[in-house]
Amino acid sequence: MFWLHNVPSDQPHKPPTPSSTNRTDAQGSKEQILSVTVPNPQACAVIAESWRFDCYPESRAVVTREMCEARGCCFIPVSSSSTSSSSSSPSGRHGIPWCFYPEGFGSYSLVSVNDTALGEEGRLVRDTKTYYPGDIMTLHLEIRHETNTRLRVRITDPSNSRFEVPITVPNATTKADSPTYSVELSKEPFGLIVKRLSTGTVLLNTTVAPLFYADQFLQFSSSLPSRFIYGLGEHRSTFLHNIQWTTLTMWARDVPPVEMTNLYGAHPFYLAMEEGGDAHGFFLLNSNAMDVALQPAPALTWRTIGGILDFYVFLGPDPSSVVSQYLEVIGSPAMPVYWALGYHLCRWGYDSSNATWDVVKSMRNYGIPQDVQWNDIDYMQRFMDFTYDPSRFSTLPELVKDLHFHGQRYVMILDPGISSTEPAGSYSPYDEGLKRGVFINDSDGNTLIGKVWPGLTAYPDFSSDVTHEWWYDNLKRFHEKVPFDGLWIDMNEPSNFLDGSTNGCPSSSLEDPPYTPGILGGLLRSKTLCATAQQKISVHYNVHSLYGLMEAKASASALQRIAGKRPFVISRSSFPSQGMYSGHWLGDNRSQWKDLYASIAGIMTFNLLGIPLVGADICGFGEEPQEEMCVRWTQLGAFYPFTRNHNGIDMKPQDPTAFSPLARTAMRQALLLRYSLFPILYTLFHHAHVQGHTVARPLMFEFPGDVKTYGIDRQFLWGKGLLVTPVVDPGVDYVVGYFPAGLWYDYYTGDSVPSKGEVLRLQAPLDKINLHLREGVIIPTQRPNITLWVSSGQPLHLVSALSEDGSASGDLFWDDGESIDTYETNQYAYIVFDVTQNVMTSQVLRSHLEATYITVESASFYGVKAEPDRVLVNSQDAAFTYRANQVLTVSDLGLNLSQNFTISWM
Ligand code: NOJ
Repeated sequence: MFWLHNVPSDQPHKPPTPSSTNRTDAQGSKEQILSVTVPNPQACAVIAESWRFDCYPESRAVVTREMCEARGCCFIPVSSSSTSSSSSSPSGRHGIPWCFYPEGFGSYSLVSVNDTALGEEGRLVRDTKTYYPGDIMTLHLEIRHETNTRLRVRITDPSNSRFEVPITVPNATTKADSPTYSVELSKEPFGLIVKRLSTGTVLLNTTVAPLFYADQFLQFSSSLPSRFIYGLGEHRSTFLHNIQWTTLTMWARDVPPVEMTNLYGAHPFYLAMEEGGDAHGFFLLNSNAMDVALQPAPALTWRTIGGILDFYVFLGPDPSSVVSQYLEVIGSPAMPVYWALGYHLCRWGYDSSNATWDVVKSMRNYGIPQDVQWNDIDYMQRFMDFTYDPSRFSTLPELVKDLHFHGQRYVMILDPGISSTEPAGSYSPYDEGLKRGVFINDSDGNTLIGKVWPGLTAYPDFSSDVTHEWWYDNLKRFHEKVPFDGLWIDMNEPSNFLDGSTNGCPSSSLEDPPYTPGILGGLLRSKTLCATAQQKISVHYNVHSLYGLMEAKASASALQRIAGKRPFVISRSSFPSQGMYSGHWLGDNRSQWKDLYASIAGIMTFNLLGIPLVGADICGFGEEPQEEMCVRWTQLGAFYPFTRNHNGIDMKPQDPTAFSPLARTAMRQALLLRYSLFPILYTLFHHAHVQGHTVARPLMFEFPGDVKTYGIDRQFLWGKGLLVTPVVDPGVDYVVGYFPAGLWYDYYTGDSVPSKGEVLRLQAPLDKINLHLREGVIIPTQRPNITLWVSSGQPLHLVSALSEDGSASGDLFWDDGESIDTYETNQYAYIVFDVTQNVMTSQVLRSHLEATYITVESASFYGVKAEPDRVLVNSQDAAFTYRANQVLTVSDLGLNLSQNFTISWM
């Protein structure tokens, strides 16, 4: 649907008719600029505070009336106490802006529009320059109705090509036949209004503030249909963003997570809940440094300093479909190798391979599950990639052999910085790299030198295929010495202990753009490379935040070539599409209860950003955990999709063996519980891979009609029905949790927990994490062991949580756990379970050899209202138990998973 009309009714600004003058801008070119008229104070005062769009977002500026009015904007100081959620500054940067656009501030007009095969295209024209240099006065607008639930809008420069993010997105060729959205265009000023057809809800309205499209300043704003906004990584925040004047900046950065700071990754995607429980998503496909400013109108402003405006709106209508639709564009997460889902143990500061080995042995002695042992930079010779220390780590190859012998795996760290100061001929990664031209150059074309752990370093340019080949060659060579199984790619923002390089950075508008988003340090080069550095596909200015993505891609492909199995890569920096190549951990947290709590929002957010294989450093990286906290964290961490205990240098050991027998036992129990849930976890990852589902799932995804779930970030679900309620506070033996309306069951006992949508108080002694099953789900579980290799061959136990009407369903994906593309090549088994009217059926929809090794040993049914007289398994009488809490259990089944069966009771 498409209308062309003038200003829509809720459009607060009218186009101006300004006159022009000349001025010389920073780059020396003469440009016409707006001759500014000071807006009428009355007209300014009527703009409601929450609708004031910031005309002076410069982070370090204290805006005065003169500065503001020189931009032709309204100036109304507001006392800081009345405005801000976070710290307030005199400029109003974090609160109600003192300087804001008046109605009718100059913008673009839509001067022509035509139909195209996919939608419409049009021409946008601005007749006056803005206060930033390099305005692009004429723009090309393209609206693509790509699918019924996906709209794409591209605004480009018709005269010059500009940088575009090099990720592969679907190439729509036909126009959606019955879209669930309408697009209205406002001509003057230009604006887009996107509505959900079924409800009329306005999802996007860009007429609320002017459009800027200058070479290094692209900005547009939109109203939001509600205050419920999620995503926009990577930030340390609550799961539900606070829209009280919060500016979230994106620019990959190495810094321990703190609130209101740009962190390791950049994810310009949000999911929004609408009144009535529908959800939609918005993705700005742009990798330049940017701000996303949220304000209570509710509204938001995208402010990026390069690239183009290319965005998608996803119509859902439920949160899960929004994520699936987003992942159709950026790519779905890879199916992880089975052992990725086991327990990983790591620390910075194992003094030697033998010290590392001792911990592994001690874990085995205590019977604590562990699939993977990691090493940090300690293993390297003077912190140089592709080396290991011949004295302290001389037994590393034997350690790895021993891990493999025990069905365990080894993961090692690699940093991108390659030492550049070794004597020529002594360090081939650098010598070869130079010869093959793999390193990032400075603006003069010389290798850019920064500083990381090994000292002075060059940085591989992963935007070049030549570098991928060089990376592979080095990995292959090292793998012949130390047959590692996976890679931990750290410091890939990329991190630099210097700002820019050993030579600083040249003066340029790339280094000091007319506007710098609110990045930590105030400079693009802060603790990273010069923005002017040259990479194969573009200047670092454009591709900085893609470094982790491109390194992950090179690493995953190299691992796959080397081992011929599914690659395992965990990356610190990330960008949309990352899930196709790697998982992520939440970086350098601290051993504090608030970090434990914050990790829940972090894992839920990354699940909706398409990187479900995510976890935080269990027990905390910086500082030292108290025993109680480490137990609670291990319990919560047992439910991170990626579960790794990692510790900082000089901190006392915090692996499970380092604690008292009581704590150790509680940790072992939590990990065994995780291992017993491997079949359901693995199946959830299959659905993430194939359908773009989340694994660790916010409650609101399953209960979008229940507003009380919208802010929950102390609890989460695995899939649709396993509710995790961890203890996140010290000194308690209970926990409170919200139970959406319906019937729930205590996972351990099968006791029913009916809820009308209530907050319940649950017992939580130190050795217990509360787990509940939602009515209607069936989950496959397995007798656990201390490696997943052993666990995954053990018999299954099926748990059915019956709904009020006695039904439930579930499924199981099973394959060999490590071959590439088993789903794509049909090398897997898929079984669906269903209970209706006292009959459970297990139906093999696809069979595979791997499933024939597995038996179903037992089944429990929660919520069987009356004690049965008989239970039949495949029509044969079977023994059973029935408890007063309405749990029916049938044991000693000995059924083969690869054959259909039924269990019924009467
Ligand atoms: C920074 C990483 O975030 C941390 O996990 C690691 O231990 C150190 N680098 C040392 O490699």
